[in-house]
Amino acid sequence: MKNLREIEANTKLVYESEAQTYYRMRDKTLFEKKWINSFIAKVGSNERVLDVGCGPADPIAKYIIEQGLELVGLDYSEAMLSIAKDNFPQNEWILGDMTKLSLKQRFKGIIAWNSFFHLNRQQQKETLPLFSNHLVTKGILIFTAGPENGEITGKVNGKDVYHSSLSFDEYQKILKLSDMKIIEYKLNDPECNFHSVYLAQKI
Ligand SMILES: C[S@@+](CC[C@H](N)C(=O)[O-])C[C@H]1O[C@@H](n2cnc3c(N)ncnc32)[C@H](O)[C@@H]1O
Repeated sequence: MKNLREIEANTKLVYESEAQTYYRMRDKTLFEKKWINSFIAKVGSNERVLDVGCGPADPIAKYIIEQGLELVGLDYSEAMLSIAKDNFPQNEWILGDMTKLSLKQRFKGIIAWNSFFHLNRQQQKETLPLFSNHLVTKGILIFTAGPENGEITGKVNGKDVYHSSLSFDEYQKILKLSDMKIIEYKLNDPECNFHSVYLAQKI
């Protein structure tokens, strides 16, 4: 049995090796629709958004593209990005680590769905200000996290991956320090497969 630090270090490799299976098995019923619609309504149509940890770009990026927004995807897994590119060759797909986000451009919205929670808690504290740097004033950030402060492991095709979360109070504090404020959130949302979701706006 690997310890948590080994699982954390190995998480990128798991996504690299399991990308095709993740894509095949990923729930595509779009149970996330309520939150994505809320994100899109606040961002506005025809706007440019960044999908951080976009994975294979289906179903989340796909739905956002279908709603008419211009989506740029970023992921640190080449295998994931290659599937995203095959799915939407006309879009821009960037190989990169969100903890080092430095794109020298700003977006009307940033989505980090089921990806930001793979960062450790220190990385999360340091990455939220980077998200803010990539948003225009009044831009919108949506991300999923855990329901409470802590570290856990999950499984991707039977292989361990690392997750962590800060508490609501800590997210609120760091977002405020990063010139953002929480405008909607729900922990363990029963209408979204018990995901914990934060929507924040840049002030
Ligand atoms: C559970 S998948 C989610 C993919 C997609 N957002 C979805 O909802 O289907 C997590 C994704 O985050 C990516 N990821 C994890 N940590 C990352 C990081 N530090 N920088 C960029 N991508 C990362 C992984 O490669 C993987 O594609």
